[in-house]
Amino acid sequence: MQTLPIYLDNNATTPVDPEVLEAMLPYFSVHFGNAASRTHSFGWVAEEAVQQAREQVAQLIGADSPEIIFTSGATEAVNLAIKGTCDIHEGKKHIITCATEHKAVLDTCKSLEKKGVAVTCLPVDSNGLINVDQLENAVTPDTVLISIMFANNETGVLQPISDIAAVAKRHNTWFFTDATQAVGKVPVDVRQQGIDMLCLSAHKIYGPKGVGALYIRRKNPRVRLMAQTDGGGHEKGFRSGTLNVPGIVGLGKAAMLCREKMAEESTRIEELRNQLENALVATGRVTVNRAGADRLPNIANLAFHNTNGSKLLTEINKTIAVSSGSACTSANPAPSHVLKAMGLPDDLIKSSIRFGLGRFTTQDEIEYTVNEVKRILSSV
Ligand SMILES: Cc1ncc(COP(=O)(O)O)c(C=O)c1O
Repeated sequence: MQTLPIYLDNNATTPVDPEVLEAMLPYFSVHFGNAASRTHSFGWVAEEAVQQAREQVAQLIGADSPEIIFTSGATEAVNLAIKGTCDIHEGKKHIITCATEHKAVLDTCKSLEKKGVAVTCLPVDSNGLINVDQLENAVTPDTVLISIMFANNETGVLQPISDIAAVAKRHNTWFFTDATQAVGKVPVDVRQQGIDMLCLSAHKIYGPKGVGALYIRRKNPRVRLMAQTDGGGHEKGFRSGTLNVPGIVGLGKAAMLCREKMAEESTRIEELRNQLENALVATGRVTVNRAGADRLPNIANLAFHNTNGSKLLTEINKTIAVSSGSACTSANPAPSHVLKAMGLPDDLIKSSIRFGLGRFTTQDEIEYTVNEVKRILSSV
């Protein structure tokens, strides 16, 4: 018998890996010191754990540990990267982003637009990809930042990161990528891929909620940013505030586990994902958003044809946790801006569902899901 409900919403958040929890626990009680306490052993122990976590996060993305700044999550890191870049530049400013970004990026850009920053929001093609020539043409002498996500949170589609970085380099502007969904699932290497800034979040990689990081390139060339949180000068002055030591330890451990497990885990998860997609596509009523694109291995964003999308989701959600798009915007029932930007018709946008597989997803769960979704599909 399958234990219910089944969790297939791993792009909204992941459970904390038991090994991560175990690593964190001593830092709530025994090693509770403030990492900024420089004069006694409680502080030293906490600081050592933070430095180890910084190294673990850096290793996962090919950075050096001093280039990692801990934050409260990806949203804060996005704000620091984008607003921090604008604030350090004088005169006219221009940012380039794209239509399928997470609201963390889109809303940050909107807020800057109100303050006089020019924003170009590039369209995407039917696969959700930007056109790199169009990006290059959009760059102006005022462009201070290109902000394009690594992998989309609704479809998993991967943008051409190295090509985007090359455009930024040619035009002497910075490239920031929101890699919240990509890190830990596909190889990310900031040096090889020419990334100047990158954000990630612990709760998408089997770590705790409320902690994340911003990578800020330190050399060749060094990125300069204005802090968005002033205070005691923590995190090299980029982000003041007492460090969340247990959370940071959890993020470090989660990063280490991803590094160890990624190759094998991604292959296993992709096989399960393909099994789910193939079985449902075979019903003749399901298409994949977008099967043709390079995608994360763990997302199946499926369009259910000739059906009432909200009824379908309600029925599936009785035993299987899936979502109609981004959890962060599901308070807002407007149709997915991502699928809309990809040109999907309204009826299919309303009947598209994201299945997000993860480390703890089993073969039995996928088999149950296939049978249950087919059963529901024949009745709605
Ligand atoms: C692509 C992307 N960016 C940013 C975020 C926000 O991350 P956090 O919850 O750590 O603030 C999310 C979370 O859903 C995401 O998927």
